[in-house]
Amino acid sequence: PAPGWAIDADVVVVGSGVAGLTAALRCAAAGHRTVVVTKARLDDGSTRWAQGGIAAALGEGDTPEQHLNDTLVAGAGLCDEAAVRTLVTEGPDAVRRLIATGARFDAGEDGEEIALTREGGHHRRRIAHAGGDATGAEISRALVEAVRAMGRGEREALSGKGDGGRRAGLRTIENALVLDLLTDAQGRTAGVTLHVMGEGQHDGVGAVHAPAVVLATGGMGQVFSATTNPAVSTGDGVALALRAGAEVSDLEFVQFHPTVLYLGPEAEGQQPLISEAVRGEGAHLVDGDGVRFMVGQHELAELAPRDIVAKGIMRRAQEQGTEHMYLDARHFGAEMWERRFPTILAACRSHGIDPVTEPIPVAPAAHYASGGVRTDLHGRTTVPGLYACGEVACTGVHGANRLASNSLLEGLVFAERIAADITARPPRQPGEPVAPEHPALPLLPPEARPTIQRTMTAGAGVLRSAASLAEAFATLVRLQREADGEAEEHKAVVPGVEAWETTNLLLVARVLVAGARAREETRGCHWREDHPERNDDVYRRHRMVTYHPPRT
Ligand code: SIN
Repeated sequence: PAPGWAIDADVVVVGSGVAGLTAALRCAAAGHRTVVVTKARLDDGSTRWAQGGIAAALGEGDTPEQHLNDTLVAGAGLCDEAAVRTLVTEGPDAVRRLIATGARFDAGEDGEEIALTREGGHHRRRIAHAGGDATGAEISRALVEAVRAMGRGEREALSGKGDGGRRAGLRTIENALVLDLLTDAQGRTAGVTLHVMGEGQHDGVGAVHAPAVVLATGGMGQVFSATTNPAVSTGDGVALALRAGAEVSDLEFVQFHPTVLYLGPEAEGQQPLISEAVRGEGAHLVDGDGVRFMVGQHELAELAPRDIVAKGIMRRAQEQGTEHMYLDARHFGAEMWERRFPTILAACRSHGIDPVTEPIPVAPAAHYASGGVRTDLHGRTTVPGLYACGEVACTGVHGANRLASNSLLEGLVFAERIAADITARPPRQPGEPVAPEHPALPLLPPEARPTIQRTMTAGAGVLRSAASLAEAFATLVRLQREADGEAEEHKAVVPGVEAWETTNLLLVARVLVAGARAREETRGCHWREDHPERNDDVYRRHRMVTYHPPRT
């Protein structure tokens, strides 16, 4: 659809989690006119839901080198070592700058400035947390407040009361779904098109023209039936990047969090997470007979990397003919549960389970996209002027399986690098956008969404095989053909957020399944029943994908 309105900026940031807001704050502080567009409210993304914390070598005796080693082991041979080194060496200072921006972390009981906990795959206590188990909510609060304060400063400057316009400006547009990248005749980024819902100046389809676009749209957990991700995580950034011809890699590496509250086989959508930090503080995973089945499977037992624990749970569940296992932390007692894990305690109790007196039923659910839009160490994608940061990106730090609590850190560190890259030179005038060579694909009806999600969970979930993936692929292709057929018959679906999201879900699902079919090995969080071994001879490399949408 043709944009009905347009505004100009130097940088447009798409998404408002830790990555997006950090990039936006730093770009605006350096004098670049910055616009943040976000699909729902500023604090509605995944960051707010992060529980366990943010990993960084902040503790006595810990070093970036040790953090690097744990990250490389979890990544199962596919991490980009230079990217990991950047993450772990710049991480501690990035966390300190986050604190300077206003985030408050829990202090240690023995007077340490920051309390550190453990999670899976970490050989040390190195996870900083806030509000016990509400780390993401605190980070989101601090960043949203900083963004609003900057916006206030700008208004005051305009009214003559403020700092005389020293701040260049940070605007936010909420309820704005990003549609497609705009490029100029040289193929350079020229902005984005948006669909804005609700009252206000910028309603309907419009555009922000800018020579730099930062994708920070988060993940794609909603491509599966059950996920820890909020409803907004529909892969919009990866879909945009694919349509824009940017390189995407490693989508098959979907991390399934091992311990998500099990609410029955029919449970769909966002499910309550039971943080790894609960295991970090000593909770046990037990089977239906009360046996600690992870002991003996890995030197770290319940704190093995996530993929190993998720597989351990699935295997034992299969052996016992059940759908879930249990997490037993009754020994924490009520006081510790209330102080250390208030969010999880409340979530369990709201579902009729009291972790103080009974084990918590848990099963794996889709949690994190380790792959995404391929970037270099400055967050640059393969399209000039298009950057990606946070879960939507594939910087190479996660390899085949992200180490726990590295994601908030990645968002912080690489957002700062992106802002530094963008603001290293004065903003250029964006080129005149040319109409996208491939206009948006035929839209899918929103009713197709549950079919996509159930297909993905059944065929491309924790356990995959050639047969299950082939079946999933056939269903996804059929859905696409139906959408194409309807477009030809001019029965096109009414454009709206749900239709766009469903269209994006189908695109990322197809690419994910294609990646999973091509990778005939088991590595990290990609588990092929028919190829149970890791195959370093053939697959010790990333799969780079570019997409060529059909011409319409
Ligand atoms: C958790 O608290 O277990 C989630 C942390 C993460 O995904 O890194």
